[in-house]
Amino acid sequence: MTLNHPCSTYSILLLITITRLITIVGKTEQWKAPILQELDIHNISLKFHNDPEAIKIASRDYGNIVHEFPRAVFRPSSIDDIATLIKSSYNSPSPFDISLRGHGHSTNGQAMARDGVVVDMASLRKQRDGVAINVSKDPLIGHYADVGGEQLWIDVLHATLEHGLAPVSWTDYLYLTVGGTLSNAGISGQSFRYGPQISNVHEMDVITGKGEFVTCSWQKNLELFQAVLGGLGQFGVIARARIALEPTPKRVKWVRLLYSDFSAFTKDQERLISINGRKQKTALDFLEGMLLMNQSPINNWRSSFFPISDHPRIASLITQHSILYCLEVAKYYDDQTEKTVDKEIQVLLQGLAYIPGFHYEKNVSYVEFLNRVRSGELKLQSQGLWDVPHPWLNLFIPKTQILDFNSGVFKDIMLKRNITAGPVLVYPMNRNKWDDRMSASIPEEDVFYTVGFLHSSGFDTWKEYEAQNREILEFCSDAGIEVRQYLPNHRTQKDWSNHFGAKWVRFLGRKHQFDPRMILSPGQKIFDKQQLLPAF
Ligand SMILES: Cc1cc2nc3c(=O)[nH]c(=O)nc-3n(C[C@H](O)[C@H](O)[C@H](O)COP(=O)(O)OP(=O)(O)OC[C@H]3O[C@@H](n4cnc5c(N)ncnc54)[C@H](O)[C@@H]3O)c2cc1C
Ligand SMILES: *[C@@H]1O[C@H](CO)[C@@H](O)[C@H](O)[C@H]1NC(C)=O
Ligand SMILES: *[C@@H]1O[C@H](CO)[C@@H](O)[C@H](O)[C@H]1NC(C)=O
Ligand SMILES: *[C@@H]1O[C@H](CO)[C@@H](O)[C@H](O)[C@H]1NC(C)=O
Ligand SMILES: *[C@@H]1O[C@H](CO)[C@@H](O)[C@H](O)[C@H]1NC(C)=O
Repeated sequence: MTLNHPCSTYSILLLITITRLITIVGKTEQWKAPILQELDIHNISLKFHNDPEAIKIASRDYGNIVHEFPRAVFRPSSIDDIATLIKSSYNSPSPFDISLRGHGHSTNGQAMARDGVVVDMASLRKQRDGVAINVSKDPLIGHYADVGGEQLWIDVLHATLEHGLAPVSWTDYLYLTVGGTLSNAGISGQSFRYGPQISNVHEMDVITGKGEFVTCSWQKNLELFQAVLGGLGQFGVIARARIALEPTPKRVKWVRLLYSDFSAFTKDQERLISINGRKQKTALDFLEGMLLMNQSPINNWRSSFFPISDHPRIASLITQHSILYCLEVAKYYDDQTEKTVDKEIQVLLQGLAYIPGFHYEKNVSYVEFLNRVRSGELKLQSQGLWDVPHPWLNLFIPKTQILDFNSGVFKDIMLKRNITAGPVLVYPMNRNKWDDRMSASIPEEDVFYTVGFLHSSGFDTWKEYEAQNREILEFCSDAGIEVRQYLPNHRTQKDWSNHFGAKWVRFLGRKHQFDPRMILSPGQKIFDKQQLLPAF
């Protein structure tokens, strides 16, 4: 996967390729009806880049493990540029691959395009004409924001806050693009109550794999709407998404409770997420959970929380039990509810089976809470520890199999290998907050868990983590635990068809309909252009 090449030869090769690419596009007009005007091609020809720096950025991602080299990087200044690019591939006798690089925070090359063209969405972020985030109100759906797919969630937060509003469903980390998270699902501690981010979209503008600009929603072009949400970039480019907004709270009560017993921990998590009405005042606003282990620092990069003075007693508890489970919840409040928030939390936490005395609280602003991972990132960056390999594994696990998972994976594989230092997240979600007609693949049960192994490794040790990841997947398969990968990383059509299960046929049909020449997001490794799709 890694290529070594003398730069100069490579650049020349690239130049030839680009020239070919444009020539191919030029030829198209002789091959087919002149769909593209000569002028349009010229408009975009200057937007291809092949300098070593551009190629280098497009061939790496947050994972730092997979490297696929594109022939060119495309820097659009408008949505029309992207449509022109896709059309030129679609109409070509030999279409080229196109991937969208949102912020490159995938971990397995999902936003790369080997020998194809990588669209650098950051370029659109910088030079998009007009306002990229508009806040409005509709009598039927209430407040919403129209947001460019290339925008970062942190910018969506800041822009909507100016109106006293914000989206309700988030990811833990906000320096991700709207198009990138909506192509997966977008999950965090709010998902149990508000659903993933894909459940909070009213409408989208999409450029399909045919280069067509299509507005889709629950009322219009529903098939495309549902295909694109969780669609791994396979059906079109999310140019605009209409995101639901709610009035923002002012501050957040943030609580962590420690458990040594996994079954008590999950029982409490499940009880808490059963109170989940969107308008239900007594519900929590956020619920997650994580493992604390010997190898992991008590305060990790995802947030420093526990007071230093308490580290010794937490550490000795970890030594005693090998693994502790940390339940993490939050309740939002404002001036009106400030007086009652503590009481409400007290009522919610009554009867929970955490270890007495291991109860920690913070009182922070809403923005500080949502952006909690950022300070850890900046610290790691300053130490040169952010751009290291990230052999991540993210899974969805049915509720009835989570105890088996704990004993087989956390207590056995992980303790045996003794390399896990990064955060390991564990929290449940309610399936009824998801829409199964969307492309995202989730387990069949009413409640399922997400488990995230968010490893950072050395440049020479990532293989040990990948070996552990493989062992975990093999264990699940042997034990009949029906895991689904989130941010999936599969290599064969058989694995993909297993991943989608009953939805695979629909997924294929949608690919045939919206990207029949299999141009988009090749880095996901779902379709191979050499193989033609069966007709539907
Ligand atoms: C530090 C960190 C924390 C994270 N935390 C969370 C979390 O809490 N919850 C969560 O759900 N995920 C989380 N993620 C995962 C993240 O949501 C995915 O990796 C996502 O794909 C990254 O977004 P991106 O904008 O960088 O997308 P990229 O990696 O650039 O792209 C991902 C895929 O989406 C496609 N794509 C990108 N833009 C568009 C578009 N406009 N239209 C159509 N397709 C497009 C790409 O072609 C590619 O296939 C985290 C990742 C990191 C690195
Ligand atoms: C290409 O550029 C010309 C001149 O600036 C403009 O008139 C035309 O509309 C552009 N075409 C597209 C598809 O943007
Ligand atoms: C925001 O509104 C302006 C003016 O109507 C429009 O030009 C722009 O495209 C809108 N942006 C989005 C992302 O919808
Ligand atoms: C939370 O902190 C704010 C700011 O420091 C303070 O004004 C407020 O009284 C605190 N509220 C609670 C409920 O602890
Ligand atoms: C795990 O590894 C650490 C250091 O990497 C070591 O100190 C510890 O003894 C190991 N634990 C076990 C159970 O092997």
